[in-house]
Amino acid sequence: MEGKKVLLTRLFPELGANLLQEAGFEVTKWEHDKPMTQQEMLEAAKSHNALFCTLSDKIDADFIRANSHLDVISQFAVGYDNIDIPTATELNIPVGYTPNVLTDATADIAFGLMVATSRKMFYLHKSILKGEWTYFKPNANLGIELKNQTLGIFGLGRIGFEMAKRCQGAYNMNVIYHNRKANPKAERELNASYVSFEKLIKRSDVLSVHCSLTDKTKGLFNKGVFNKMKSNSIFINTARGLVHNETDLINALQTGEIWGAGLDVTNPEPMNPNNPLLQMENVSVMPHVGSGTVATRNEMVKLAANNIIEFYRNKRMPHAVNPEAIQH
Ligand code: DGY
Repeated sequence: MEGKKVLLTRLFPELGANLLQEAGFEVTKWEHDKPMTQQEMLEAAKSHNALFCTLSDKIDADFIRANSHLDVISQFAVGYDNIDIPTATELNIPVGYTPNVLTDATADIAFGLMVATSRKMFYLHKSILKGEWTYFKPNANLGIELKNQTLGIFGLGRIGFEMAKRCQGAYNMNVIYHNRKANPKAERELNASYVSFEKLIKRSDVLSVHCSLTDKTKGLFNKGVFNKMKSNSIFINTARGLVHNETDLINALQTGEIWGAGLDVTNPEPMNPNNPLLQMENVSVMPHVGSGTVATRNEMVKLAANNIIEFYRNKRMPHAVNPEAIQH
């Protein structure tokens, strides 16, 4: 690994740089409390062999072509929609990612947002800060019950499964899902039923999105979809903000087409502090922290560092998006 230089595009848990340095890499860390600009990242990558980046870094075709000398790109995230994978593959640059280790942390956030939304927790917390807790009002601040409700999962993979398991354990929720393919484990262990997309949106009391961002899912949850959902339903998105149309979501909440929303991802990110969603009673928003626990972030940084180390040591990548790029 002597002479191989890795660029870390921001401050990651220290363990990542330590592992790389112990393995003999020369590590450049972006130490500032703000991300690199695109131009800074583009220039800095030119003098490095490997890029260690994350979900908000724009690794598009222009970036990759301008840095076609890169041996490897290692993403600190399970999603990699910020990276132009076909271009990386065409240029034989393997791309690593960090699956599995953030499943529970992200499912916890989806579950937490559902509960918080159903009981207006974020809104009520803000109202206390404004001095609005005056006296006990039996008819005010009422939420909705989750017990025995129907949970719809869009994209039932690892995170969706854990969300469904939590909802079933806590609230005996009936699980329906829509996926590209059936999930026999969920059907066996959670008694989940596969339904069409149309049935999913019409029948769910809570609809939780766990898909990846693709051309097919971009903007999928829009006016037409919210319009068909139940008026007492809650929409949860912990996947990617671009999967929902935020203007349509605001409108659906304002007109009562749906009851509430819990978002860990928004469109754009960061969310504008003046966004009307932040003022709504039945809305809970978090700043994209699905994987944000100490243990999970440490596991992610280990996987991301290991993807680079293994690539140089053994010409393999334990978690590669495009393993075919390694053969060359
Ligand atoms: C990911 O890793 O893709 C998640 O969105 C992080 O929370």
